[in-house]
Formats: sequence, structure tokens, C-alpha cells
Amino acid sequence: MTKQEKYIASHREIDARLEKGGDFFADLGNTAAILKKRLGYYWIGFYFLRDERLVLGPFQGTPACVFLPLGEGVCGACASSRETVVVGDVHAFSGHIACDPSSKSEIVVPLFDREGKLRGVLDVDSDRIGDFDEVDRIHLEKVGIRIRELWPPAAE
Ligand code: SME
Repeated sequence: MTKQEKYIASHREIDARLEKGGDFFADLGNTAAILKKRLGYYWIGFYFLRDERLVLGPFQGTPACVFLPLGEGVCGACASSRETVVVGDVHAFSGHIACDPSSKSEIVVPLFDREGKLRGVLDVDSDRIGDFDEVDRIHLEKVGIRIRELWPPAAE
């Protein structure tokens, strides 16, 4: 299967899950799990924008940093610019925050709600250099559009 085909299969499975969904954290957990299962990247997860910083949400992979400052690291750069950031070699990215030394390349996609308000980022890490390209950007941004209807999470 090509990467493109793996993403297409992921979209189909995410659609099916979300149609039956109805819980914010469960739906995002399943979204991360489907991408991890089908693409096989080292780490896939969500960070939420809360109180002027990013807070770790549902993810698949090794334990990760709970809080990330805005404007620092790849996730912070994405949240500040509100644009997807692709980093071919994280060690060459000034300010990269190394939650796990195995991470070698990274793509981070901004997540907006239906009103266009920034709600967080989707972060994907690879343990190989230069693993992310246009195919990843297009399809991960598509995942971001698919999940924007999930915000805001239901109040307790
Ligand atoms: N490397 C990220 C931090 C998050 S972890 O990769 C899960 C960054 O520089 O923002």
C-alpha cells in the first residue's frame, strides 16, 4: 500500500468511527489510534490550546511532554503561525522540544473549530529523518477538517 492509500483507508475508518462516536476524547483517541495503526509512525497525538499553552491530549506512542509553550518547539511554531510545519530533521530545528530522543522528523498541523478558532495541533513524529511530505500534509490537514466539528468538548 502506498502512503496515499493508507491515508485514504484511514479517512474511511475515521469517518465510520466518528459517525458512531459522540464523545470528544474517545473520538480523538480513536482518530490517533487509526492513524497509528495504518501509517505506523512513531508518535501521533493531539495537543490542546489552553491558557496560552499547549496541553497533551489523546495520543499513541511513548509518554510525552504534558505542557508546551506557545512559540517554542515545532508544535508551538505551528500554533503561533496557524500553519502546518514540516521538519525533516528535528535536530536542525532551533527550539525543538525533545519529548523522546527517538523522534527524528515531525509534522504538526493546526486544528480549528467550525468558527475558525485555533483549538490545538495534531503532532506526528517519525523515528526516521525526512519521513514527511506533501501527502502527509494534505491528509493530516484533511483529518483536522474532519474533526473540527468535535469542538467544543461537552462540559462536565
Ligand atoms: N517535538 C515537539 C514536542 C512534542 S513531542 O514531539 C510529542 C515540539 O518540538 O513541539
